[in-house]
Amino acid sequence: MTATLLEGKPVAEKIEAEVTEEAAGLRAEGVTPNLTVVLVGDDPASKVYVGSKEKACKRVGIDSTTLRLPASLSQGDLLRLIGDLNHNQAVHGILVQLPLPPEIDPNAVLCAVDPAKDVDGFAPENMGKLLLGFPYTVACTPAGIARMLDHYEVPLDGSNVVIIGRSNIVGKPLAALLVQKTKGRNCTVTICHSRTADIARHTRDADIVVAALGSPGFLRADMVRPGCTVVDVGINRVEDPAAKRGYRLVGDADFDTILKKAAFITPVPGGVGPLTVGMLLKNTLKVARCCGCKA
Ligand code: GUN
Repeated sequence: MTATLLEGKPVAEKIEAEVTEEAAGLRAEGVTPNLTVVLVGDDPASKVYVGSKEKACKRVGIDSTTLRLPASLSQGDLLRLIGDLNHNQAVHGILVQLPLPPEIDPNAVLCAVDPAKDVDGFAPENMGKLLLGFPYTVACTPAGIARMLDHYEVPLDGSNVVIIGRSNIVGKPLAALLVQKTKGRNCTVTICHSRTADIARHTRDADIVVAALGSPGFLRADMVRPGCTVVDVGINRVEDPAAKRGYRLVGDADFDTILKKAAFITPVPGGVGPLTVGMLLKNTLKVARCCGCKA
C-alpha cells in the first residue's frame, strides 16, 4: 500500500478563493479587513512564518501590518502596545507570533489580547468557548487540520484519534475541536505526551494519528496500524550539508516508511502548514465582521 498524500496547497487555494470573495464583499460595505502581526525578536522560523502570513494577506485583499520589535522589548512595553492595538478601532485582528523571548510570559500576553480581535483563538475566552462548544475564533492549526480531513473526506464521526503533543497551540485545542458533539466531529480523542507510559500502545489503535510534538521522525511505521491516517504537524529543521540552506525540513513522522503503511499522510512541508495560514485569513475575516460587536 502507498498512502495518498493529503496536500495542503489545493485546500489552501480553495480557502484563499473563499476569503478573497468574502473580503471583497466586506470592502464593498466599506470595511477593509486588516491584521496586525507582532513579531518580537529574531527567531528565524518565526520570521519565515510571519512573511508567509503577510504574503497570504496580500493575495486575498486583507491589509496587514507587521510590527517587528527587538528581543530586548520589555513585557510591560509589549502589554502596553497590545493595549493600544485593542483600543485602536482601526485594528481588526491582532496576532502575537510565538515563541516570545524567554523573559516575556506568553500567558500574560495572550490574556492581554482583546478576545474579539484574537485571530489565533488563544485568548482564554476563546479557548473556553471552543471547549464549551460555541467557538468564536479557533486556533489556526487545529482548524486547518479539521478542514484538511473534511476536504479529503477522511471520516471523523466515531473515529479514534490519537494526538501526540499537549501544546496550547495544537494538541489541546485540536482535542477540544474533534470531540465536539457535531456532525463531522464526534471523535474519541486521546492526548499522548512526554509522560505517557507507552505511546505506541495508543497510536497502534488509532484511526487517525496527529503528531504535534516537535521531534523529527518520532512516529515510526511500527507505531501505526495499516490503513490509518497520519497528520504530521512537525516542522523541524535538521542539518543537511547537501541542502542549499544547510538544513531541510522534516516532520514528526517517519514519512518514507509510514507512506507504505498508512492510507493517508500529510507531507512536510506542504501539508498542514498552508492550512494554518488559510485559517488565519478566515479568522481575520471573522474578527473584521465582528468589529464593533462584542465577541
Ligand atoms: N507559532 C507557531 N504557531 C503559531 C500560531 O499558530 N500562532 C502564533 N501566534 N504563533 C505561532
